[in-house]
Amino acid sequence: MNAKAIDQQTLLQNETDPLTHTPVHLLSLDGVGKHYGNIVALSDVTMAVDNGRVTCVLGDNGAGKSTLIKIIAGLHQHDDGVLNIMGEERKFSSPRDALDAGIATVYQDLAVVPLMPIWRNFFLGSELTSGWGPFKSMDVQQMKDITKKELAEMGIDLRDVEQPIGQLSGGERQCVAIARAVYFGAKVLILDEPTAALGVKQSGVVLRYILQARDRGLGVIFITHNPHHAFPVGDRFLLLKRGKSIGYYDKKDITLDELTAQMAGGAELAELAHELEQLGGHSSVVEEVSAEVAGVAQMGATTTAPTDDGGARHV
Ligand SMILES: Nc1ncnc2c1ncn2[C@@H]1O[C@H](COP(=O)(O)OP(=O)(O)O)[C@@H](O)[C@H]1O
Ligand SMILES: [Mg+2]
Repeated sequence: MNAKAIDQQTLLQNETDPLTHTPVHLLSLDGVGKHYGNIVALSDVTMAVDNGRVTCVLGDNGAGKSTLIKIIAGLHQHDDGVLNIMGEERKFSSPRDALDAGIATVYQDLAVVPLMPIWRNFFLGSELTSGWGPFKSMDVQQMKDITKKELAEMGIDLRDVEQPIGQLSGGERQCVAIARAVYFGAKVLILDEPTAALGVKQSGVVLRYILQARDRGLGVIFITHNPHHAFPVGDRFLLLKRGKSIGYYDKKDITLDELTAQMAGGAELAELAHELEQLGGHSSVVEEVSAEVAGVAQMGATTTAPTDDGGARHV
């Protein structure tokens, strides 16, 4: 994974199983589960990631999103189910293992060195050198040039790659991390809540680079709790709640309103309205929650989930 070795054509097409001639997913989870002692953090989760597609994982705090990506990124191992990378069953023993399989993860608290220049952070841990033995030295100019060029190719226009990365906004830092993963040949890009701490405009910038990474042929896993961020960029949506999958949809089978309603949870809103009433809550608040409940009930009438072949199945 050193050189820039992404063959766009092969990346944009999924491999085909030579025996069955069915497309093989870049990455897939089948009935994956994980527990910490007797806490079940994840159970029976199934999803797929393909080249040039964005799979969104949505869920509130404690839903199991981080556990899911830790399994894919090689930080934790699953206890149940199967993790397949290009049709081959894998269980990663370390983050290095996952990285070698082409899986790059951009964590929310980016592992950057704020005082170091942008180009140093871009090449951190993979510095280019020239010469050998005692004459080996960092090839500074080349690293600066590549950083500038790669960022420009992703449409990121930074004035000066010599600038300490700590001076960039949160959104810009996320974008540098995405460009870095693309450059170092990632096939799967995992983004853990990249927009959670950002304002509307900055979030928009990050969402645009998610699409850039997709268009470069990567399979993107976008973790978020915001359906308004997920819906415009996602091709598939996995909804998690308390470690369980409560829905898995193809874009064509769900609307933004339905996705939002599923996230909000109709039953829980109803319970909340009832509780507020019992507590003598302000009538307008109770009414508002009740109206929301009615809306959710209406929208939750039919739900569909994608099947393996991409078709829809009613659940
Ligand atoms: N290392 C751990 N040890 C024990 N329990 C954990 C650990 N990591 C996560 N959990 C539990 O697993 C559940 C899912 O957590 P997590 O994957 O972090 O959810 P999310 O990222 O969606 O907020 C939570 O109940 C959490 O408390
Ligand atoms: Mg988390």
